Amino acid sequence: IPVTAFDLVVFGAAGDLSLRKLIPALFHRWRDDQIPAESRIVGVSRSNHDDQSFRDLALKSFREFHPQEIVSDDEWARFASQLYYTELDVVSDQANWEPLCEKLGEPGQKQRVFYLALAPDLYGAVSANIKRAGIKTTGARIVLEKPIGRDLNSAKQINDAVGAVFDEGSIFRIDHYLGKETVQNLTVLRFMNSLFEPVWNANAIDHVEITVSESIGAGTRASYYDKSGALRDMVQNHLLQLLCLVAMEPPLDLEPDTVRDEKIKVMRALRAITEKNVRETTVRGQYHRGASNGEAVPGYAEELGGTSSTETFVAIKANIDNWRWKGTPFYLRTGKRMRQRYSEIIVHFKEIAHSLVKNGKEGIPPTRMVIRLQPDEGVKLLLVTKDPGPGGMRLRYVPLNLSFADTFEARYPDAYERLLMAVVRGDLGLFMRRDEVEAAWKWVDGILAGWHKDETPAHPYAAGTDGPVQAAMLLDRDGREWYHGA
Ligand code: BG6
Repeated sequence: IPVTAFDLVVFGAAGDLSLRKLIPALFHRWRDDQIPAESRIVGVSRSNHDDQSFRDLALKSFREFHPQEIVSDDEWARFASQLYYTELDVVSDQANWEPLCEKLGEPGQKQRVFYLALAPDLYGAVSANIKRAGIKTTGARIVLEKPIGRDLNSAKQINDAVGAVFDEGSIFRIDHYLGKETVQNLTVLRFMNSLFEPVWNANAIDHVEITVSESIGAGTRASYYDKSGALRDMVQNHLLQLLCLVAMEPPLDLEPDTVRDEKIKVMRALRAITEKNVRETTVRGQYHRGASNGEAVPGYAEELGGTSSTETFVAIKANIDNWRWKGTPFYLRTGKRMRQRYSEIIVHFKEIAHSLVKNGKEGIPPTRMVIRLQPDEGVKLLLVTKDPGPGGMRLRYVPLNLSFADTFEARYPDAYERLLMAVVRGDLGLFMRRDEVEAAWKWVDGILAGWHKDETPAHPYAAGTDGPVQAAMLLDRDGREWYHGA
């Protein structure tokens, strides 16, 4: 779909997200000829730069974060001729906004987009300043990075403040997991193959597991991360979005609101976790020193430079109280400094009802569907088959394996490429609606309050492992274990 010319104003342009993700994503789309020549990317931040020094900084960062990619100075200069910079403290007086107003000038036919790569508590004030400065054109769009607030109350305040300037149809709340190739494929897989939907329920599915495991630590983000923790940073958004896509009812079509209406029904059906059941249903963890990829790494508290009770790991047993999922728990798990970086959704089907071989059902694993989101995208259906050849009825558990890399030759664009282009096109389907964000916070707030009352400890785990032993016990109590490969 052709993209119309746009002016994209990136607030927080000299920050990590902008340099690491946004500008590289725009560069890739420029290379793919999707950034019309009249479009401009205008970086805004408090750092002291002019257009040229900002272009140089963006190139230096590109080379640092994408060392495997070759970009010549000349190629970058052609892209960067569409890149501009204005120094501005976004919460300062209107007079300071003048240079930005001048730089933007008259929009003509161009779509205007404001991207707030800033701390969420600035979203309201910046929206108001955009309006006051008179740079909000008709139909202008605003993009908000997660997290929207740190609990339901602050999320509502932010949504109200931004909503006073932009209507809901112009607000693009990012959850970059929704831009990932395999996440988009979840809906296709479930609803465009007749095989799955009849068995996609508690009658056939024993439980579902969603693991987002990271090998990186909090590192330089420790001061942000310490105020957030794994529950707010990952579960409130990414893991709950994945859960909704796996659990939702079939939408009527793929229109943004049709899908979002189905997702929110799942969020509302999530059984509340409170101080009464928080110990049985959740586990908090924090990494201590250990080894990552064969190298000794410090613990979280050492990185932070002080003690902290913030969780860098969380495991949750979630129940969805509706007809489809009654009795089928969803186990969620995410952590930093884990053994490996990978994200997987595992659908564990029920055991067979009756075994045809003499030694009973033991040793006959259930059918499992493993949806691998990253790093090597693919879908595996694990089935029991007969080992070929003589020797009687020897059984083997083998995968029907769809590896995306082997099957498709396409380049996998980073999620931000897809999301930025979706904003320019006005496609809201990959973004979170206000009520979704607030419903997610409502559930998460219950857990946070429960932890607070219960004084739930963050159990230590060594960096480079699968998290605290208590996470294994969470499943063990139900006679299950986390999937660790077939
Ligand atoms: C971000 C979190 O939203 O997602 C980070 O703030 C986390 O803490 C990141 O590292 C993970 O994203 P990805 O795409 O690397 O899985």
